[in-house]
Amino acid sequence: MPLVTSTEMFKKVYGKCAVGAFNVNNMEIIQGIVDAAKEEQAPLILQVSAGARKYAKHIYLMKLVEAAVEDSGLSICLHLDHGEDFEICKSCVDGGFTSVMIDGSKLPFAENIALTKKVVEYAHAKGVVVEAELGRLAGVEDDIKVSAADSSYTDPDQAVEFVQKTGCDSLAIAIGTSHGAYKFKGEAKLDFARLEKIAGLLPGYPLVLHGASTVLPEFVAKCNQYGGEIKGAQGVPEEMLRKAGTMGVCKINIDTDLRLAMTATIREHFTLNPADFDPRQYLKPAREAIKNMVKHKISNVLNCSNLI
Ligand code: G3H
Ligand code: 13P
Ligand code: ZN
Repeated sequence: MPLVTSTEMFKKVYGKCAVGAFNVNNMEIIQGIVDAAKEEQAPLILQVSAGARKYAKHIYLMKLVEAAVEDSGLSICLHLDHGEDFEICKSCVDGGFTSVMIDGSKLPFAENIALTKKVVEYAHAKGVVVEAELGRLAGVEDDIKVSAADSSYTDPDQAVEFVQKTGCDSLAIAIGTSHGAYKFKGEAKLDFARLEKIAGLLPGYPLVLHGASTVLPEFVAKCNQYGGEIKGAQGVPEEMLRKAGTMGVCKINIDTDLRLAMTATIREHFTLNPADFDPRQYLKPAREAIKNMVKHKISNVLNCSNLI
């Protein structure tokens, strides 16, 4: 089975459910996610941020994902998450990714269009699909903090113009989610009316939801039980994600929940086994925790089991 684009995956799920896009940084994370997708027979997007490329190197992640494809027999889409300029997108297209995100969301509208169009032209010529972003999420990406005041929701009419002018294959929208573990102060709220309007104006067009971790309380509690200090964390309730999946959101991005699952498990391991210093002893349960988290997401939140 090859690396594939997300095109067929999105066609299959549109209006019914969403495909999970999980961030990967190392072998154990990749193995945990791929094992889960295989057991669930689910379509899968693995995504790599600039930070992940810096941490692990493009070539290591590429080879690990190629190994995962060969070993699992799954078709996997390998995606650049939050590419901030043309060069990183080009490097990932040239380096074998099947999908890239150009994130021009911090730019003025016309500049975002021009940059996205340039990436689309380059990527499409090489059979690679492009996700773009319009509107701005609050939260943390690659150590850049966007305050709630600097965030802005996606304008539906601008979304139509943006898609028409750029030819991007999918669009990340801002409707109230944010990156990281601290998404809402008080009640969790997403602007579903805005999502409905955008999806209505772009029928059949795949929308993307970033910042979609749920920050499951049991994992925060476990981190804290074993020496962590995570206070006031709050994510997107699962029922809201299920609803978004029926409204034109085809790709749901999850990173924070994997980090929490992995970290809680490693913290527990060292508390219970203080004398251990064999990395395999703590990375094995951490990998299992990633797998269980992804299985939960696929079967209970994304609802995309048995779609391959
Ligand atoms: O949107 C950001 C993702 O969670 C990736 O995080 O840039 O720290 O790798 P990172
Ligand atoms: P979370 O921080 O909610 O997991 O979002 C991840 C994301 O959007 C990656 O692009
Ligand atoms: Zn994101």
